[in-house]
Parts: sequence; structure tokens; C-alpha cells
Amino acid sequence: MTATRHIIGLLLGTEEDWPAAFEEILLRLGPVEGTGGSRHTFDCERITIEPFWLRGRPRYDLVIDRLAYWYYVPREWLKKVALMDGMYLLNSPFTFQSMEKHAAYCAMMRLGLKVPETVLVPFKNPVDNARYAYTAARYNRPFDLEAIAAQIGYPLYMKPYDGGAWRGVSRIGNPAELHAAYDASGEMLMHLQKAIDYDVFARSLSIGAETMVMSFQPDQPMHQRYAVHHSFLSAEVGAEVVTIGRLVNAFFKWEFNSCETLVAGGEVYPIDYANACPDVALTSLHYYFPWAMKTLVKWCVFALVTGRRAKPDLETDRYFAIADEPGMSYEEKLKGYRELADAYFDSERYQDFWADKQSRLDEIVLDWVAGPDFDQLLIRTVQLVYPVHEHDKFIAHLRGLLSLWVRDETARLAVA
Ligand SMILES: Nc1ncnc2c1ncn2[C@@H]1O[C@H](COP(=O)(O)OP(=O)(O)OP(=O)(O)O)[C@@H](O)[C@H]1O
Ligand SMILES: [Mg+2]
Repeated sequence: MTATRHIIGLLLGTEEDWPAAFEEILLRLGPVEGTGGSRHTFDCERITIEPFWLRGRPRYDLVIDRLAYWYYVPREWLKKVALMDGMYLLNSPFTFQSMEKHAAYCAMMRLGLKVPETVLVPFKNPVDNARYAYTAARYNRPFDLEAIAAQIGYPLYMKPYDGGAWRGVSRIGNPAELHAAYDASGEMLMHLQKAIDYDVFARSLSIGAETMVMSFQPDQPMHQRYAVHHSFLSAEVGAEVVTIGRLVNAFFKWEFNSCETLVAGGEVYPIDYANACPDVALTSLHYYFPWAMKTLVKWCVFALVTGRRAKPDLETDRYFAIADEPGMSYEEKLKGYRELADAYFDSERYQDFWADKQSRLDEIVLDWVAGPDFDQLLIRTVQLVYPVHEHDKFIAHLRGLLSLWVRDETARLAVA
């Protein structure tokens, strides 16, 4: 029988760690069986940047994009291959580039989620456009920044409407800090948002139909932000965090995204739900890195073998119908949203697809992470990321966390 060959393209910037891991797991996995005994093979290539014909046919079947959020040549190529060639993309260039943090807040508020009160304020500095002075003089209403802040209440956060990596984020406790932060915002467009005094910070990483919810410590250095802590949320709160992440991803058709929720007194407050290029670095995810790589492989293989199609339209009315249902409680709405999200991600079919292949993949990944090739990747990654005098410290740190994963995973597989 002939095998169907699928080519996965990786659109990469500076990352070397996770692409190497992804390529290695895919290679070790080898051919996969689809329905009716069909056979599928996978090749992975790193995409190069060059001129492209708009009517040209790309060689890839699926692309994982880590670049288009700042580099416009691949961004425009992605739009072309999405519209013209039906290529499967993680993530859609349309929704991720026009719908950033701000759009996610709007969607979540529209759906009745507990996004903290948020106000968008006009630019501090004039916009660089010849028409600005006239337009601003004619139409910009003066506003009282202190009155808005007082209405939200201190403390609050000032942060860019489309932010990432803490750029321009400040916590504000009084009017003096408010003015200082606004003056410093310059050409950035800012939100003011009520601060939540949270008990726990849950950061979840979603890849297709799976989500890992992790305990996050934003005030720690990068390598210590994700804590290895398995039951830091009650079962109900954990399920709510997963549902909100899946909901936002299904709503915008984002398939590789990390989401941030603050949990206070059992209430879940979403604060950051649009990360087009979620952090999956070995040095950040450590213990959770094998899960992320395995799941990325699983989702890509599932999408390719089952011929999953990407559709650019959002069909938002189906979600709004639930939001607008009179007399429906928050919990009932979440249940409705979860059903829509599970349908979008084809969760049942995904589980069925992997049911008879999962244990082989689990063994492959465990064997690799426990072996010398992974250790070499770990060493190379530390050498690329940290200065020489810190190499020993970080190699030991990561080895410790990964051997903890190997121990836990060995125990898990022994029981299964
Ligand atoms: N409303 C809020 N209440 C409490 N803390 C907040 C709030 N908004 C932001 N923060 C804090 O500020 C940090 C950065 O905010 P946010 O995630 O919105 O910005 P970011 O630039 O996207 O950061 P990152 O790339 O780390 O996700 C959060 O991790 C959190 O610690
Ligand atoms: Mg954030």
C-alpha cells in the first residue's frame, strides 16, 4: 500500500530547542496508521524566507508559525497559503494579527466571563500621521485620567492593548504613578485594568484539544515561573480554567496558545488570552516540556491524518446565542461553551484517534527524554541561552526537573 506523505513546515525565529525536540519525536514516531489501514508518513522542514509567487503552490501541508507576529514577509505568505492553498496553520494569521489581547477581552466580556474592568485610553503622544493634528484638534475629547483611574479603583494595571513579554506593563497604586506610567507610554496604546488580588496564578498552555494548566509565578525569573505543582486548583476551578482557555481558542480558532487566569476566592478572572507565539522553551517549561512536544506532535499528526480543514470564518453567533440565553447561569453557559469548543477541536475523535497509539508514543518520548540525545539537547540549549558562568548551574537545574518528570512518567506508565 502507498503511504501518504505529509510535510510539516516550521516557521522559526531564534528558537532551536523545541524545533529539535519536535523533529526528533516525529522521526522516532515514524509512520502512523489512519482509517481503513491507510499509512501516513511525516517530514519536517524549516521554512526559508524568499520571494513567493502568489499563485505558487507551497510544498507544506501544515505550518507551525513562530515568526509572523513580528516578521511581515512570512505573515503575508501565511495569509496567501491560508486563503489560496487551504494550508493548515498553527495559528491562523487572520485572527491572531487582528485580534490581540484587546479583542480577546471584548469577546470574553461579551460571553459573560469575569475579565477585570478595563478601559482603553487614547495615545499619550501624537500619532505619526500628517492628518493627526487636525483630527485630534477637531475630535479628540479631553479626558480626566485620574477620574477614570478613581472609578476603576487602585491598584490597577496599565498595559498595552496588544502586549506581550511585560512590555510597558505597570502596577499603579496612586495618581502620581498613574501619570508617570501614562507619560512613559508614549506611542503605545494602553489599557487601564483593575488589579485582582489573586491567590493563585494559573497559566495554561493549549495545543489543539489538550490543555495543561500550570501554577505560574510571574515575579520569579523565567526559569522558575512554572512551578511543578500538580493539585494547586480545586477540580471545579481547574475545569473552569480549562474551559475558558478552550473557549477562547475555539472562538478565535487559535490552536496553539497560552492563557493566563487569576484565581481569587474561587473566582476565575481571565487576564491574558492571546499569545500567538506561546513560550514553549525548554528552559521555561522544563518538567512540562515533554508534554508540550508530545502534544504538538499529536495535534499535527491528528490534523494531517484525518484531513482536518481550517476555516477562516468565526461563526461567532453560535457563542453569542449562549451568552444571550435568558436565565442561563454562568455555569450553564460555560457548559454550553465547552460543548462548542469540544466540537471545534473534535475532541472525541482526537481521543479515539490516539487511543491505540498513545502508549507507543508515551514510550518513545520517555525513552528519548531519559536518554543521552535529550541530555545533549539540554546542554546545547543552556549553552545558547545562558552566559558561560551559569552553564553548570542551569544544566543541573534542568536535569533535576527532567529527571523528576522521567520518574513520574515511568510511574504513570507502570500503572496504566
Ligand atoms: N488585572 C490584573 N491584576 C493583577 N495582576 C495583573 C493584572 N494584569 C496584569 N497583571 C500582572 O502583570 C503581568 C503582565 O501582564 P500581562 O500578562 O497582561 O502582560 P504581558 O505583556 O502579556 O505579559 P506576558 O508576556 O508575561 O504574558 C501578569 O503576569 C500579572 O502578574
Ligand atoms: Mg501575560
